[in-house]
Amino acid sequence: MTTVELSERIPNNVNLSGDRKLQRALESWQPRFLDWWRQLGPADYQDSEVYLRTAVSVGREGWANFGYVKMPDYRWGIFLADAEPGRTVGFGDRIGEPVWQDVPGEVRADLRRLIVVQGDTEPASVEQQRYLGATAPSLYDLRNLFQVNVEEARHLWAMVYLLHRYFGRDGRDEADELLERHSGDADNPRILGAFNERTPDWLSFYMFTYFTDRDGKFQLASLAESGFDPLARTCQFMLKEEAHHMFVGAGGVGRVVQRTAELMKEHDTTDVEPYGGINVDTIQRYLNHHFSVSLDLFGAETSTNAANYFAAGLKGRFQEKDRTDDHRLHDQTVSVPVLEGGDITERQVPSLSALNTTLRDDYVEDSAKGLERWNRTLAEVGEQLRLPHVGFNRGVGVFAGAPVTPDGRLVPHAEWRESLPLWLPTDRDRAHVASLMRPVSEPGKMAAWVAPPSSGIHAKPVEFEYVRA
Ligand SMILES: [Fe+2]
Ligand SMILES: [Fe+2]
Repeated sequence: MTTVELSERIPNNVNLSGDRKLQRALESWQPRFLDWWRQLGPADYQDSEVYLRTAVSVGREGWANFGYVKMPDYRWGIFLADAEPGRTVGFGDRIGEPVWQDVPGEVRADLRRLIVVQGDTEPASVEQQRYLGATAPSLYDLRNLFQVNVEEARHLWAMVYLLHRYFGRDGRDEADELLERHSGDADNPRILGAFNERTPDWLSFYMFTYFTDRDGKFQLASLAESGFDPLARTCQFMLKEEAHHMFVGAGGVGRVVQRTAELMKEHDTTDVEPYGGINVDTIQRYLNHHFSVSLDLFGAETSTNAANYFAAGLKGRFQEKDRTDDHRLHDQTVSVPVLEGGDITERQVPSLSALNTTLRDDYVEDSAKGLERWNRTLAEVGEQLRLPHVGFNRGVGVFAGAPVTPDGRLVPHAEWRESLPLWLPTDRDRAHVASLMRPVSEPGKMAAWVAPPSSGIHAKPVEFEYVRA
């Protein structure tokens, strides 16, 4: 692709056609991206027409254009939310300074790291979801999967843009490496644990988009506060897309729950497996797994890195502007959980050091909202789903490896291990769910384990042919 074609192919509001250096960098990266997409993106359907939305500008009309497109022809764009005139740094030791349009030298390495870690998650989830197209429960779901996939790939573009535009040679190297690490690769895995897990079935996919994409929302929201304005504006725009991913998860789990409740009523039993449904116990175990793995993404409860990022104005808190404290946090404390003398207790620590916990607490609160909706459905059959305790099944932070039960009790290791089949998906659970994974490709038809959605996408009916072979 020539440079002229390139800047026409890539919808953007970053003046790509006037930026020769950026064009040259993308010219060599873009073909590698397409190779990656073909090798590790959706395993099938690359020649199908998929009813997708494409952002062509950040304005109200431009950001969500719908139409049929073949995925490899998707126009992955580069967008920054509109600049806020006179914007100043909103937190940390440089609060009140005008935001930076270039990377301050003293925070260059930290900023690059934040962008790389975020960027690494985006293609990782596409890789994790690579084979799901073969077992989609409906064309509606298939389309939603691909929408999530192309947008995660666009999020990769968003981070690669920042690396190419603002970080010179080492930024280009990092951009290349984002295509070289692969989810679950023994030698060169993705950076964060949850992004090396498998997403083997659609219940996992719904849980992933509900819980793990929600981690994305909180990370992006705190980077959207950044004093480095191009990063802040990039993340602000990404958040619009992230909302759809969580909708796919909330709607998906909600539809599974609804179908389960229907089957329970119809057959007057809690065991709906013989009728092709998924039992509430199994759904709870999947939830426990995805929630606990997603909590690990927030890092350790106390962290000097998080404190430094905040003090330097690089990464704020969720909805920083709405908080009523001094946004510097030097003399404040918060409580964080600790394990002491065989007990789970709390301890006061400087707020600055506990920012990971603060973000995680906000995430937990947000996660609980979807459960309230699902539980209204389940209340009809006398069941409830619960978020497990934050200490359950953790691999990072104070609870790493600690035998904490889902209801927050510390028990002997042996007891904990013996009880695991009650708490985390068993081989039997996974085999049953796998047995339900049969593709349904007739427009409007749904697999029997999941209820239809209440409405279609973009005012189209549920029966719309969202993917045309
Ligand atoms: Fe993303
Ligand atoms: Fe996402």
